[in-house]
Amino acid sequence: MARKTFDNAKKAKNDEFYTQLADIENEMRHYRNQFRGKVVFCNCDDPYESNFFKYFAMNFKFLELKKLIATCYIGSPIANKELSLFPHESVENKTTKAPHKIVINEAIDENKDGAFDLQDIVTSLTNNKKNTLTRLNSDGDFRSAECVALLKEADIVVTNPPFSLFREYVGQLVDNKKDFIIVGNINAITYKDIFQLIKENKLWLGNTHRNRGLGMFFDIPESVNTETATRLKDGKIFIGGAVWFTTLDTPINHQKMTFYKNYKGNESEYIKYDNYDAIEISKTKNIPDDYYGAMGVPITFLNSGYNQEQFEILGFTHRNDPYKLKTKIYTKNDAENFNDLNGSPIIRSGDDVRFAYMRIIIKRKRETRNGNKKL
Ligand SMILES: C[S@@+](CC[C@H](N)C(=O)[O-])C[C@H]1O[C@@H](n2cnc3c(N)ncnc32)[C@H](O)[C@@H]1O
Repeated sequence: MARKTFDNAKKAKNDEFYTQLADIENEMRHYRNQFRGKVVFCNCDDPYESNFFKYFAMNFKFLELKKLIATCYIGSPIANKELSLFPHESVENKTTKAPHKIVINEAIDENKDGAFDLQDIVTSLTNNKKNTLTRLNSDGDFRSAECVALLKEADIVVTNPPFSLFREYVGQLVDNKKDFIIVGNINAITYKDIFQLIKENKLWLGNTHRNRGLGMFFDIPESVNTETATRLKDGKIFIGGAVWFTTLDTPINHQKMTFYKNYKGNESEYIKYDNYDAIEISKTKNIPDDYYGAMGVPITFLNSGYNQEQFEILGFTHRNDPYKLKTKIYTKNDAENFNDLNGSPIIRSGDDVRFAYMRIIIKRKRETRNGNKKL
């Protein structure tokens, strides 16, 4: 169902899902020490309404940022008129949504009330030459020369980019060797370039999802058609596959998994696929402690068990078999529906044939008693 919501959003090129401040706070707290002295760039973020900009502006001092830059794309609809961060936003800007760039270099208690808040930022834009809010020369597209130049200046990019351009968006960050913490859809792990980063332990799912369900609620503009939405709460839409992706490593990624089952003695519970040399594990918690062959696990393994000390990722199951893991390609001699069979991991028991969902194929690493990998 969640997939349906996302697909609808994708088809309509509807990229207007706005991240809630609480979700940003909840994820960012895990990287607190990694922002020190860094240039943070939010490049799909209208400074007038983005909670990403709001979060980093308000926490500029606390996180000891060096610089905060936010840019936005022309014409993004106003998500939450009542949330407008700057009371002085002009009527002209509200209607045209002209692309802006805001640069914060300094957090000073301008109104001397003992605290640093958004009001100080607003004041600093006129009082303090180091903080500026200016119109962009181009349309604010993250691929524009103007925005790429800003990207080159940045250390960490943090945002929720347009879903419909996710692959290209990540590609640009990777090409420019930038760290990032961004919102995307879990389905993006099937993009080969994204999966390769996960496989090489250069990209992780965010901390918010560790041992929890996937999905997040987003603010939406009034113009979004919510008829097909499966979950709405207080005007916010739930996107079941929405997750954080990040290149910043945290201790959570190294939490060891506890095993509750043994393979030995329970062999009949662990069936080998007919077309992959791996056993089916339908729930991560069923990964056995004493099995070192290949295993097919659900995608949720990435947020509920994976750590590079205990596991190696070999690839994922797919019709096109990008990781060359298939041991069998069905033909019409095998079955009439051979084409369907080639699309999934197949569990066969006698004449009974079951299609498993897409699986990530993993292996346990052998560890010595002191936790090091055995050579
Ligand atoms: C999913 S929304 C998220 C907005 C904001 N980052 C947030 O989380 O609240 C994606 C934003 O990207 C903007 N956008 C769409 N295409 C873009 C592009 N080519 N370059 C930069 N921003 C773009 C949209 O206008 C939209 O505001």
